[in-house]
Amino acid sequence: MSRTQPPPSPPSSGSASASAELNVARIREEFPILASSTRGKPLVYLDNAATTQKPRQVLETLDHFYRLENANIHRGVYYLSSQATASYDRARARIAKFIGARFPEEVVFVRGATEAVNLVAHSFARPRLRPGDNIVVTHLEHHANFVPWQQVCHEKQAEFRVAPVTDAGDLDLGALDRLLDDRTRILALVHLSNALGTVNPAEKIIALAHAKGVPVLLDAAQSLPHLPVDVGALGCDFLVASGHKLYGPTGIGLLYGRLEHLDSMPPYQTGGDMIELVSIDQTTFQKSPARFEAGTPHIAGAVGLAAAVAFLEALGLEAVARREDALVSEAVARLEGIPGLTIVGRPERRAGAVSFVMDGIHPHDIGTILDSENVAIRAGHHCAQPLMRRLGLNATARASFSFYNTAEEVAALEAALRKARSLFH
Ligand code: ALA
Repeated sequence: MSRTQPPPSPPSSGSASASAELNVARIREEFPILASSTRGKPLVYLDNAATTQKPRQVLETLDHFYRLENANIHRGVYYLSSQATASYDRARARIAKFIGARFPEEVVFVRGATEAVNLVAHSFARPRLRPGDNIVVTHLEHHANFVPWQQVCHEKQAEFRVAPVTDAGDLDLGALDRLLDDRTRILALVHLSNALGTVNPAEKIIALAHAKGVPVLLDAAQSLPHLPVDVGALGCDFLVASGHKLYGPTGIGLLYGRLEHLDSMPPYQTGGDMIELVSIDQTTFQKSPARFEAGTPHIAGAVGLAAAVAFLEALGLEAVARREDALVSEAVARLEGIPGLTIVGRPERRAGAVSFVMDGIHPHDIGTILDSENVAIRAGHHCAQPLMRRLGLNATARASFSFYNTAEEVAALEAALRKARSLFH
């Protein structure tokens, strides 16, 4: 590979445009791990809500970057550093376009959705919170979009309000509306629940909050890989997501924030590359995004994430969503036919994941038996203990899907669950 050779491009010939269906057999060839076997059994990977597998385009982009472009950014006066800086900046612009941001400067690279929420809790909410104010979250939240708000409320003697869910796993929008008032400093809301697959009507909820002057942070860690997401159309103030759930590397994620918010916020961390001038007495800071990217960032991660986004764009998010909806419907239909199995949550709109429990079998045992068939699912509380408690459960088993999964894999899930049942009954 020469220095001038560009990183690999996404599959265009074998993949489908947004209007056509996906060529899944061809797409699967781009994911080397999907062809692997353990104990003679092919991998059936149904833990995509935990992390997604990586296409060749991402793997080769990382390899290309480290082999031929690696240098620190914003520091070197030499060619390689300027190349790495250009790649990093291009990655930001690509990702900004992918989510519909107005400017690349509205995208801050962080470690993941968790760090992004902590950044907003620390730099946006904390300075604005007075005793008696409140922050509203929902019962559907992952701990990452729950604990940082709870902690900042405790610290500032503010009220931490949790909007309820129905037994079906949908948000109670009337109750949520009643919790928002003129002391609400932010609403932090999940777009797609990792535990139940509930898709919240984000646009409607954001409009409702804005009507009361409440800014909204949308946790899109699960939705960005599954649904077309456009921050302009949604109107959210902040959006957070993780690269590794988006077919990109681990350790990279993004915070989107409206520029007027980001430029009004103090830094989250301080150090190199985020300053304007430093003297013994004081320091002045750069504007966003540099202000929030202290230290050497995950340069290769950002470049790899841009490759993942290019891959997804080539597939078309509409086609991805259609394909995954079909897989989820197929899974629900098959699981409903298994005696003693109960699907947890019947949300009005579900995407990506199906949670379930089985009479007399702990979810961890389900997971272990499925593993003996090389079917990978997640079992546990899914980092959503308040939701589990609300539903009267300690844990569920969860199968979560990607466009690269197949109807045969859904059938393998059913067969493995029937085996689990036969071992316990
Ligand atoms: N949040 C990830 C999941 O739901 C880890 O599995």
